[in-house]
Amino acid sequence: MTVTETGNSLTIVDNRTGKSYEVPVENGSINTMELRKIKVSEEDFGLLGYDPGYLNTASCKSRITYIDGDKGILRYRGYPIEQLAEKSTFLETAYLLIKGELPDKERLAVWTYNIRHHTMTHNNIVKFMDGFRYDAHPMGILVGTVGALSTFYRDAKDIGSEDSRKLQVRRLIGKIPTLAAMSFRHSMGFPYVMPDNDLSYAGNFLSMMFKMTELRYKPNPVLERALDVLFILHADHEQNCSTSSLRAVASSGVDPFSAIAAGCAALYGPLHGGANEAVIRMLMKIGSIDKIPEFIQSVKDGDGRLMGFGHRVYKNYDPRAKIIKDIAFEVFEETGRNPMLDIALELERIALEDDYFVSRKLYPNVDFYSGLIYQAMGFPMDMFPVLFAIGRIPGWLAQWIEHVKDGEQKIARPRQIYLGEDERQFVAMADRPKTRLDEQMAGICRL
Ligand code: ACO
Repeated sequence: MTVTETGNSLTIVDNRTGKSYEVPVENGSINTMELRKIKVSEEDFGLLGYDPGYLNTASCKSRITYIDGDKGILRYRGYPIEQLAEKSTFLETAYLLIKGELPDKERLAVWTYNIRHHTMTHNNIVKFMDGFRYDAHPMGILVGTVGALSTFYRDAKDIGSEDSRKLQVRRLIGKIPTLAAMSFRHSMGFPYVMPDNDLSYAGNFLSMMFKMTELRYKPNPVLERALDVLFILHADHEQNCSTSSLRAVASSGVDPFSAIAAGCAALYGPLHGGANEAVIRMLMKIGSIDKIPEFIQSVKDGDGRLMGFGHRVYKNYDPRAKIIKDIAFEVFEETGRNPMLDIALELERIALEDDYFVSRKLYPNVDFYSGLIYQAMGFPMDMFPVLFAIGRIPGWLAQWIEHVKDGEQKIARPRQIYLGEDERQFVAMADRPKTRLDEQMAGICRL
């Protein structure tokens, strides 16, 4: 097959048949359904695109988040992440992602009020939570309990109603920190803490996590702001693994609680939201600065990966990692330096000078330093992916709404390239070749 591009189309010549096809180019892409017209015969199904892991397939048109991986750019609705991290709050950024514009003062106040008044959960959630084993992973609990919320809010099935969608958005952003904190308190055997709606979003979450016998929990303002910024940095990242999973599940028309539970499940994996936990485990395994060269060599020899490094899209420094590194130093001023920071800094320095990492464009990603901060704040490692999920909720919701309103979307249903057996006839059990077990059984029966 030969392909040439002229004007706004491609001319594809199929060398199998000599036929030529004109394929329109729009937004730098072709509609792969056009390839189906390329056939060797009338009965031929037509040409398919083969793209495991969707390395070069756009699944939607989106107006939410822009990434230029080569330049290290990340923007939500056009606003650079650096400006949002410096000047915005998590709830304001959530508004921006979901509604498309920054709110005025009054709209922000109403939005904040509405979310704060959806922080409580139905009391049956407590019973549900109590059913998990004492050592259940909090992310597993989150996947289960977010999915369970769909059974509490049956009105959420009405995904075509804008009013219903608005209500589910408030419920999900409001309740996720409550569920997250409950999952932690359950694993510790501590009583659950009621939301304190006079605190900020991050402050209330810290209170629900760490409040003990004091009458009122007072969050440390530096940690409260750091957590808020970390949530902003995680709020969206276009069509990543969890968002694509969520969109695929949502394409069946299911309610948003079930779709978001699918997003949480995808985020649970060590190559996605579990990577910051893997970074801490890696730093603990390295143990001291003098062991770094040996560790780097083992990675280069193919024995595991340098966790917190590399990204499918960023082939330059992840802009979120830069901001997080600065926050780390601010947090350590309050909490004391995390002893593993020095190992991380030296690991980064050595890796960024090493041809193996440089030639593959492997730079620190968002997870390289975030785990160190979470650990210094007192979060156990199991909670790291849960913290990621809290931050990602507005992005998932914005993507869900965009998906539901997108008339070009259909139920997600990829094709496959079948390489299995051709048709064959069923063989009755008595006619199948004898196995060693059959012979042994026959021997036993003869005894
Ligand atoms: N350490 C060592 N080598 C690596 C790493 C790494 N962290 N990441 C990629 N490579 C190497 C691969 O071995 C491969 O080398 P090769 O060409 O010699 O075979 C090359 O770089 C390309 O790697 P791919 O796996 O093809 O890259 P892909 O885009 O599929 O993977 C991923 C991206 C999954 C993030 C990968 O870089 C990785 O596993 N990183 C570590 C886990 C991590 O930090 N995940 C968090 C991602 S950010 C997020 O989800 C929020």
